[in-house]
Amino acid sequence: MEPLVDGFGRVARKLRLSVTDRCNFRCDFCMPLHPIWIPHKEILTYEEMARVVRILVSMNVTKVRLSGGEPLMRRDLEKGVKLISSIPGVETVSMTTNGYFLAEKAAQLKEAGLQSVTVSLHSLKPERFEEIVGRKDVFSKVLDGLREAKKIGLHPVKINCVVTRGCNDDEILDFVELSRQSGFSIRFIEYMPFDGRHLWDVSRLVPGSEIIEKIREKYRLVELPREPGSTAVVYEYADGADGNVAVITSMTKPFCGDCDRIRLTADGKIVPCLFSRDEYDVKKLLRGGASDEEIALFIRESFRKKFAGVETLIKAKGFVPHVRPMHTIGG
Ligand code: 5AD
Ligand code: SF4
Repeated sequence: MEPLVDGFGRVARKLRLSVTDRCNFRCDFCMPLHPIWIPHKEILTYEEMARVVRILVSMNVTKVRLSGGEPLMRRDLEKGVKLISSIPGVETVSMTTNGYFLAEKAAQLKEAGLQSVTVSLHSLKPERFEEIVGRKDVFSKVLDGLREAKKIGLHPVKINCVVTRGCNDDEILDFVELSRQSGFSIRFIEYMPFDGRHLWDVSRLVPGSEIIEKIREKYRLVELPREPGSTAVVYEYADGADGNVAVITSMTKPFCGDCDRIRLTADGKIVPCLFSRDEYDVKKLLRGGASDEEIALFIRESFRKKFAGVETLIKAKGFVPHVRPMHTIGG
């Protein structure tokens, strides 16, 4: 089949698949204080997800990243991973996780076909970390998860760190030291206004350029050419140390022009762009007896209407936060 193309000629190659909106953490930049969970019966089964993936693969979407909420909150995730990774044409299955259940699950997931993992770690100070994520006694479990993922050979193991001014922006060089010692990729993410508590303010956003400048005060960095479609600009250390650092400048320098992502929410909505309110209910078709061809056509028409991107919003200064907080879209 023809690839999936939007009205601006952008082609979808990667799927962000939110497998659940549930999360055991309460990160202040993500979760509302009193989250309203999607009812269980509205959440797609693994078979339904796999069917959408199969249809997307036939349109050349070949990379799948599982997200949440927290994907490891979903029961039997390894079954879902196995179903999806066995679909011919799926090149990679990766996962973004908070890491809490990772140490106990990593081996099973790898066995089921998971290749790589990104763990969210926003502070290296246990108390601060636990304040950010709103949970006590979790820091060491997340570190165990990271270690285990590396040990059993998930590759690459990346760390996502959402930087907020006045909270963890004093730890940038500590994260850099961690990457140099451990070989992990550290990805500093700009704070985006998807927070369920509406705490976002431009004054709390630390631009990626500032993060890189700070690192350059201590280390010479070599900027790698950006992979097409990638949200990250990656830098290696000029002295040859292991690991690397990246900035994800979704707010100050988004790369909407070659965005290659499409999203499927846990409740079966196609979301072509993270920053747009547009969503298209594919579950209705899945549960209404539609054929694969009808579903493919529906996805194609939905994706064709993909929003130009956050760049246009920022230019127009008319940013309206998404109706769905991050945990229901899947990062
Ligand atoms: N801004 C930036 N990143 C966020 N994440 C969650 N909420 C926000 C936000 N408001 C991160 C998660 C995870 C990734 C999917 O997005 O911590 O690492
Ligand atoms: Fe959970 Fe991730 Fe949201 Fe934190 S950012 S509350 S770990 S879904």
